[in-house]
Amino acid sequence: AIDPNFETNRERVGDEDGVAVWGPVEPPEKQGIRGTHVAVDFDICLADGACLEDCPVDVFEWVDTPGHPESERKANPADEDQCIDCMLCVDVCPVDAIDVDPG
Ligand code: SF4
Ligand code: F3S
Repeated sequence: AIDPNFETNRERVGDEDGVAVWGPVEPPEKQGIRGTHVAVDFDICLADGACLEDCPVDVFEWVDTPGHPESERKANPADEDQCIDCMLCVDVCPVDAIDVDPG
């Protein structure tokens, strides 16, 4: 499961499309955690897609991660600013790749 304390335990190594990237990132095998309020551990995500289907405000969009061992696309929390903290994505992700931090 995603580490809920990633902001303390990981280093922010940059931004991609306006979304924070928390390392380590070593493409293609290591993609890190993406997002802050809504965070997705790309190294756990296996492209189930339930988060994209169920989010009522369409926070997520697919990004391609060719060569990643779990899946070749990931749910990027591109519109995390729109999140209404319903927690549906956290509940439906089969591998607990998502952390939402209401507050
Ligand atoms: Fe979307 Fe709800 Fe998840 Fe926020 S908590 S990203 S609104 S499904
Ligand atoms: Fe990935 Fe979980 Fe969504 S596996 S696509 S973060 S439901």
